[in-house]
Amino acid sequence: MTDQQTKLSLSSASADDLKVDALVLGVAPRKGRRKGVDVVLGDLTVRAAGLRKLAEALAAIGATGRRGEITKLPGGGIAAAPMIVALGLGSPDENIDDADAALEMLREAAGTATRALAGTKRVGIAIAHAERVEAVALGSLLGAYTFRKFRSANDLESMPDPIAAISVVVADARDQTVRKSVARAEVLAGAVRLTRDLINTPPGDLPPAKLAAAAVEAAKGLPIEVTVLDEKALAKGHYGGILGVGQGSANPPRLARMAYRHPKAKAHLALVGKGVTFDTGGISIKPAANMHEMKSDMSGAAAVIAAVYAIAALKLPINVTGWIPTAENMPGGKAQRPGDVITIYGGRTVEVLNTDAEGRLILADALVRAAEEKPDVLIDVATLTGAAVIAMGQRTSAIMSNDADLRTRIFDASSTAGEAMWPMPLPAHLRKAFDSPTADIANIGGRYGGMMAAGLFLKEFVDDEQKWAHIDIAGPAYNDGEAWGYTPKGGTGTAVRTFVQLAQEMSGR
Ligand code: BES
Ligand code: ZN
Ligand code: ZN
Repeated sequence: MTDQQTKLSLSSASADDLKVDALVLGVAPRKGRRKGVDVVLGDLTVRAAGLRKLAEALAAIGATGRRGEITKLPGGGIAAAPMIVALGLGSPDENIDDADAALEMLREAAGTATRALAGTKRVGIAIAHAERVEAVALGSLLGAYTFRKFRSANDLESMPDPIAAISVVVADARDQTVRKSVARAEVLAGAVRLTRDLINTPPGDLPPAKLAAAAVEAAKGLPIEVTVLDEKALAKGHYGGILGVGQGSANPPRLARMAYRHPKAKAHLALVGKGVTFDTGGISIKPAANMHEMKSDMSGAAAVIAAVYAIAALKLPINVTGWIPTAENMPGGKAQRPGDVITIYGGRTVEVLNTDAEGRLILADALVRAAEEKPDVLIDVATLTGAAVIAMGQRTSAIMSNDADLRTRIFDASSTAGEAMWPMPLPAHLRKAFDSPTADIANIGGRYGGMMAAGLFLKEFVDDEQKWAHIDIAGPAYNDGEAWGYTPKGGTGTAVRTFVQLAQEMSGR
């Protein structure tokens, strides 16, 4: 599906016999008062002599076993692999209050290890019990991600090759549950990789038509029906929000619909993703600093495309409809102006007071359209507000909803999936500031609580009977800092795993 890369396999060889270029073993601070580390093997095996030697060598060079610590040492006398990587897992009881958090710690650790091993051909990982193999497999694949499509062959020589193969060591590689877990991890990793690739693609290479084509591409070979409305069809259908945002660009807007149907489905989940392929702000133009990061303003759309793909690839017994409203927000002679009034799909009018508050306009069209099918649950996901980054920080997404139970279900799914999200309210008093003298509603409200205010704007376009939630991923979608755990610089792929988890729970599996 994407051009990467890393092959994953299971092995039940004794870890020290594994023929790899680097063998990753887990270590933790030694219990009791003696300094040094304990090797954490779970149900795996390493010969006692090698183990003793390893613990001595690590103690001699001051390894602590702290979480995320990477210590590389020669494998000679310990294992067949020429290099051993001791991966700090932290002490088992430190800050880990529940099973979800413990699994996420393992994903992060596995990702830290594979990130530190970029350029290594074959990596072996022997760090956990069989029941945790999915976390190890997923974290290691996510950490092995690279994005090299836009580097010349020249530069590729100086850039490490992605890891070619990862073997995860388990007690019994033929165990059916273990194999299923690994297969699930591979699908999830593929979906996250697709999301990251789409986000990282330069905006000039991913206009709305290309993003819609990516939805068609992702559906190939799967029972997903994709339809794409072009600018003419959008005009005929009266999609005033998508058209208004897209009218300043030479690259016309689109609305893609992906329908995955399962014969035994008992529930219908609809997902809507903001697909602004580049957000200059339009006539209300953004400052130049870091504007290039607005190539990530289609992260919600990318997550929806990838989630529908993954749910179909896993054959989950549920119906899922993915909606991708996509436009490029550009200034220009044909661009919408502050003060213009547009008509959202379904007839409500919006006075556009700030053309940079564009995500809510394209989402409004898509939400009204998606709700026509009366899905059991309707969720939109968007890099919607700078205010979300201020309120939540760069690593936590916000969940807002018109249904407290749905909000909790999404929160629980996100914890299980290992994506940081937190419930936030939709305080009704913030709605008043959206009153417009000219149209039904304006597209900006007051100064404070901008994230929740944007949520309230969207709520106007969803009937109260329709269970709906809004997830603002403006902080976590794009990592403009250093890589950490399994998260690279650039697109992160956040929200995909939460959607797959929620779909799995809704499907009763
Ligand atoms: N795409 C931006 C929000 C954003 C900002 C995402 C930073 C990721 C990082 C959105 O379209 C926007 O510009 N929102 C405005 C809304 C305002 C004009 C009411 C904002 O947040 O400043
Ligand atoms: Zn904007
Ligand atoms: Zn935007």
